[in-house]
Amino acid sequence: MNLLITGSLGLVGSTATEYFLNKNHSITGIDNDMRAVFFGNDGSTTTQLKRFLKNSNYTHTDLDIRDYKNLENIFKGNSFDAIIHTAAQPSHDKAREIPLLDFEVNALGTLNLLELTKQYAQKAVFIFTSTNKVYGDNPNKIGLRENKKRYVFKDKLFVGFNELTPVDHTTHSLFGASKLSADICVQEYGKYFGLKTTCLRLGCITGQAHSGVKLHGFLSYLIKSLKEKKSYEIIGYNGKQVRDQIHAYDLAAAFEQIIKKPGVGEVFNLGGGSQNTISVLEAIELVSKKINIEPKLKYTKANRIGDHICYISDIRKFQKRYPKWKLTQSIEDIVNEQL
Ligand SMILES: NC(=O)c1ccc[n+]([C@@H]2O[C@H](COP(=O)([O-])OP(=O)(O)OC[C@H]3O[C@@H](n4cnc5c(N)ncnc54)[C@H](O)[C@@H]3O)[C@@H](O)[C@H]2O)c1
Repeated sequence: MNLLITGSLGLVGSTATEYFLNKNHSITGIDNDMRAVFFGNDGSTTTQLKRFLKNSNYTHTDLDIRDYKNLENIFKGNSFDAIIHTAAQPSHDKAREIPLLDFEVNALGTLNLLELTKQYAQKAVFIFTSTNKVYGDNPNKIGLRENKKRYVFKDKLFVGFNELTPVDHTTHSLFGASKLSADICVQEYGKYFGLKTTCLRLGCITGQAHSGVKLHGFLSYLIKSLKEKKSYEIIGYNGKQVRDQIHAYDLAAAFEQIIKKPGVGEVFNLGGGSQNTISVLEAIELVSKKINIEPKLKYTKANRIGDHICYISDIRKFQKRYPKWKLTQSIEDIVNEQL
């Protein structure tokens, strides 16, 4: 296959690039290291580039997805079987400092790619990495119980949030708003124009390829801070906030299944689900024990605006549609890989 991967140097994009290169597919990667613009040098993703350039099946373009004209040249010069769109401004806290740039990259950049797919690659499968922030803080309205190290759902039969979770009447953060705009456009280019588009509304994604920074990449940044014996700041909810975690490799495998059996304008929640969850306190304890250090912690009482207290993805719709797909990496595997 001939694949276009945007954000090909970031966590998800680089893992997907590696995954498909290993299967001898050709990749056109687009990434302008904008992560370094958003988060400074610690966030830079260029380290992946040297490795990929050694593979003759990889072509890199240092291009901004906001640049419609030059994007169009790429679509004109190629025939893509699938477009995996992962380039983004990925942090909800960062978005409030750069609302225009955030919206341009997340919403307009996505619209550029959809429009070009419609014009030049109508048969291609289009996968968009959306986010659970499209649901805003609606997930916080569910009944919760505060246990010693984590919040849990009061309803023991509730396994997580599904695709019918409301997206209105809630605080999204500007990041959630720009991603929801993109998510709706991706659905619309499917429903209205018949393109093979899929939105994956993702929980926390992690993996070794993450250039984790304070504002994005919770587990990777936490592990890095503890390993380097730096102080780690717990923000709000007594550190008992819970997230499901998926390794970027398992996400790349999900992309492969979607490409094999694409839908039109589809939406799935995807993440580690109820089998792969961890709270901030539990993550600190797990990592500290493994590397045998006393963590330096700082606690800030005020939570991040709109931050989820306990978010777990209900991944049953995806599992039903793609029964061959399985989670292969546990939280333990994910942490061990990064130590
Ligand atoms: N990491 C997570 O926990 C998580 C959770 C939910 C959703 N997502 C979504 O998954 C996608 C990938 O996330 P990630 O963690 O790999 O992020 P990342 O920051 O590691 O990767 C994104 C890449 O896109 C590039 N990029 C940014 N703006 C660009 C632009 N204008 N033009 C070209 N390239 C640009 C960056 O340089 C970076 O390498 C994003 O859409 C994000 O919103 C991530």
